[in-house]
Amino acid sequence: MNEFNYRYPVTVHFGEKSAAKNLPAELEKVGKNVLLAYGGGSIKRNGIYDELMTLLTAAGKTVTEFSGIMSNPTYAKVQEGARLAKDNCVDFILAVGGGSVIDCCKVVSAQAKTEADLWEMETVAHKTPTEFIPMGAVVTAFGTGAEMNNGAVITNTEKRVKGALWGAYYDFAILDPAYTMTMPMSQVISGSFDALSHCMETYMGSPRESNISDEINEAVQRSIIKNLRKTLENPQDIEARSELLWAAAMGENGILKLGKITDFQAHMLEHQLGAYTDCNHGQGLAVIHPVLYRHMLPEAAPQFARLAQNVWGIDPAGKSECDLANAFVDALATFIKEVGLPTTFAEMGIAEADFKAIADSTVLTAGCCKKFTKEELYEVLKECI
Ligand code: NZQ
Ligand code: ZN
Repeated sequence: MNEFNYRYPVTVHFGEKSAAKNLPAELEKVGKNVLLAYGGGSIKRNGIYDELMTLLTAAGKTVTEFSGIMSNPTYAKVQEGARLAKDNCVDFILAVGGGSVIDCCKVVSAQAKTEADLWEMETVAHKTPTEFIPMGAVVTAFGTGAEMNNGAVITNTEKRVKGALWGAYYDFAILDPAYTMTMPMSQVISGSFDALSHCMETYMGSPRESNISDEINEAVQRSIIKNLRKTLENPQDIEARSELLWAAAMGENGILKLGKITDFQAHMLEHQLGAYTDCNHGQGLAVIHPVLYRHMLPEAAPQFARLAQNVWGIDPAGKSECDLANAFVDALATFIKEVGLPTTFAEMGIAEADFKAIADSTVLTAGCCKKFTKEELYEVLKECI
């Protein structure tokens, strides 16, 4: 294990009816003016909006709505939210949605407290904000685990960069599996794959020898694979969804990362693909992962071989480490097809993009066992077409 400091600031309220059970007490702790943030309107169609509005009204809150937060939220949308929060003297932000709404509000909460340009502050001056409007998250889509960390993935459309800004942690997160029942099945699948990717990217970091974090990680990966299959078989299986909801949170709450330097090279590449194409995050990862992993295979063989046996149940008898590593990448690629994820950019509707510029603007990660060059990432992208 590498050395680490661990503190976890987010209170999690998990389970059916957890908003009705826990939101009133949480709302008592915060000020009167609430910014209710949400996406394109799914919460109005599935009843979550009405339920939360009733709770907010009963708590005597004055609500300002911040709606239309898009998938792959933009820095411009962050500025819109920050202006609303300032103009309405907002004391508390309630973010209701998937990773996009939850991420956007992390930065709104900081931007509303400063006149500084947060993008410049964080990416040029390398300073992080220190003042935030308190926030709560109501998760309606699993996958990113964004509710459990303080990193926000924001697209700066002018700079053509999709990158991390560090915002606030949520004070609490409400995770009700019933709220996820109306997720489009394509989002269930891409979100689950995103969660699996977070686990793999963490696992592939260093140290390369297995430690306790990796052993927990293997269990989370097995759970995601099993419960996505169950959900596809029976979309009404709320138990399977509840497992996916918590597995996704586990992927990004830091526990699997303890004692590790993480990899996340697939994510860095996908984020830049997103900056140029606005594609779905989990789908982009599904196309990139097997191709990138074939490039990583010689260096990553010991870890891939462990995943083959401990996650994918591949019998090691008569197989070399290299055979097992290949069998892992094959199993992953087969699973991607099995669950209906795209296997090429063409299937995602990405016919053309500036792959050279995407590769050149991708962050090279320290934890990846292979030291990729931008030229090789460009090759990876071309193989994904
Ligand atoms: O906008 P609405 O109308 O709400 O519809 C959303 C959206 O269209 C819909 N949806 C969500 N819950 C629903 C629902 N539809 C019906 N019923 C429900 N219960 O799902 C669509 C996708 O939502 P979105 O929030 O965009 O998806 P996701 O959770 O995958 O978030 C993606 C964003 O998170 C970032 C991604 O890069 C992307 O920008 N990530 C954030 C991470 C983090 N902070 O830790 C880690 C990830 O690696 C990722 O990069
Ligand atoms: Zn992700």
